[in-house]
Amino acid sequence: MMYRGYWTGAAAAALVVSMSVVSGSSRTMEVRLKADATYALSAQSTRSVKAGVYTVDQARRGRDHYRGRCILCHLDNGQGRGAEPEIVGQSLEREGDAEAPPVAGEPFLTKWNGKTAGAVYDLMRKTMPVGSAGSLSAQEYADVLAYLFELSKLPAGQQELPSAADQLNLITIER
Ligand code: HEC
Repeated sequence: MMYRGYWTGAAAAALVVSMSVVSGSSRTMEVRLKADATYALSAQSTRSVKAGVYTVDQARRGRDHYRGRCILCHLDNGQGRGAEPEIVGQSLEREGDAEAPPVAGEPFLTKWNGKTAGAVYDLMRKTMPVGSAGSLSAQEYADVLAYLFELSKLPAGQQELPSAADQLNLITIER
């Protein structure tokens, strides 16, 4: 599914070449191939989270930040407090936040499906951790997000997840 853009591009290129051969106009071919190259370029610039958008090392760093700053409310696998079985007599008010939603796995990916990594990153940086929003560095937020992707069973890749908004906005979340 993540290669859809490329396949469509390749099919379009093949189509253009055969059409041009039939029409016998080399000029038409040149123009159309140029248009297709532009298309292929734009298809390449957006990536799916399924294509491996973070590294194993980065997720390892993110795990440390997560354990220090996020685990209290979102719990060890990012499942959130909502997923915790209710234990009679136990007060969740004690620590953390009983309202904290899942930040990994199926429910998280479903909620953010079709949105960008930039959108989650932005929300995290502006609101998390509750009570001290923005207290991690730009790089640390990117590392934590890499860890949330790892917890969500998305594949690691060769390149680190960036912290720049314009790059994060090109990464699409898919469940
Ligand atoms: C004190 C508890 C607490 C801590 C600590 C905390 N969070 Fe949250 N988090 C929440 C609550 C509560 C919400 C729901 C906020 C809302 O819906 O308005 C939330 C929402 C989120 C969401 C949005 C989830 C969604 O799909 O809507 C993300 C992502 C997130 N937190 C990430 C983090 C990260 C990363 C950290 C650590 C840097 C962190 N949180 C630390 C309580 C916490």
